[in-house]
Amino acid sequence: MGKIFVDACFGKPTPYTPVWMMRQAGRYLPEYMKVRAEAGNFLNLCHNPALACEVTLQPIDIVGVDAAILFSDILVIPHEMGMDLDFIKGEGPVFAKPLKTQEDVDTLLGGIEAASKLTYVYDTLKLVRSQLSEDKALIGFTGSPWTLATYMIEGHGTKTYSVVKKLIYTNPALMHSLLSKVAEVIKYYLEMQIEAGADVVQIFDSWAAALEKPKYFEFSWNYMKEIASHIKAKYPHIPIIMFPKGIPAFLDDIDGDFDVFGVDWSTPMALAKEKLGDRYVLQGNMEPCRLYSKEAIKECVSSLCETMKDGRHIFNLGHGILPDVAVENAKYFVSLAQELSKR
Ligand code: CP3
Repeated sequence: MGKIFVDACFGKPTPYTPVWMMRQAGRYLPEYMKVRAEAGNFLNLCHNPALACEVTLQPIDIVGVDAAILFSDILVIPHEMGMDLDFIKGEGPVFAKPLKTQEDVDTLLGGIEAASKLTYVYDTLKLVRSQLSEDKALIGFTGSPWTLATYMIEGHGTKTYSVVKKLIYTNPALMHSLLSKVAEVIKYYLEMQIEAGADVVQIFDSWAAALEKPKYFEFSWNYMKEIASHIKAKYPHIPIIMFPKGIPAFLDDIDGDFDVFGVDWSTPMALAKEKLGDRYVLQGNMEPCRLYSKEAIKECVSSLCETMKDGRHIFNLGHGILPDVAVENAKYFVSLAQELSKR
């Protein structure tokens, strides 16, 4: 049996519009909390293929989504390039020693050496693919070079991005050398994920909205495009999803060798359709906080079905699901999207 999710990524007709949710394996599921407690902490869970496989599969069984996404984190790449990573409760991810100089960048492990250290990711993908039913897709992923580099330079999440932006305006050569090095690792990383069983790959550019337009294309989108072209040339049968979060004003200049454009919740789907819908399948984009109310879910799913009635759509949230969402409401969103989009 074919995978309707993969067909939908290529814009082929499907019996209904497939659906998954960003961050679908996570703290809103009591079953996830149980496995995480067993692992001890979040990074241990990422490093343990049997447990990571179990939580990857949970949303398939519990919520009924059409695709599983590898359980891991975007920050395992910088971690394996040699940066000490910690997830601190209430604060999120922290790198103890953020990068400051060209020497710091040169000291990082690069290329295939760094990608080869992520064996636990490839082992998890192999295990999931062997247990996931044939008609469901397995999504591999990476952070974009820009989003990863932001964490590597700031050391943690940021509201102003002032440290990394200072670098862009005062020492762009250093920034480009870091971005090239990270992009190189990502190319090998995605290739190895595909070889291990990923059916689709998504590039998360969570911090896209931090940059003014010319700098966005120079420091982020061009690197994402380069990665996509590299993967497409080698694996034309593997759909690529690009998710640059929060750039509705830049859509006119979006192009590249990929299949699906992930629309975030701040971008009206009708606008994305007008600008990109004839060239790319669109994924998204329910505002995640609508999951707090069934009425709000229904209103959005109906409206997305109307806007995207010609197809070329994959249902998703416009960003990750939040930890205090009721599982029942997540199930409602998924089943309603599948039901109302039936053709
Ligand atoms: O989507 C999935 O279900 C797959 C797993 C996944 C995680 N992180 C698990 C995770 C994916 C795809 C990510 C990507 C990720 N990680 C992004 C890009 C997507 C986005 O949301 O924009 C970013 C920016 C990160 C960095 C990161 N990791 C942050 C900021 C945090 C803390 C936020 C929080 O909710 O505490 C994490 C930790 C993290 N990654 C958790 C999970 C399930 C929470 C850890 C836990 O407490 O169990």
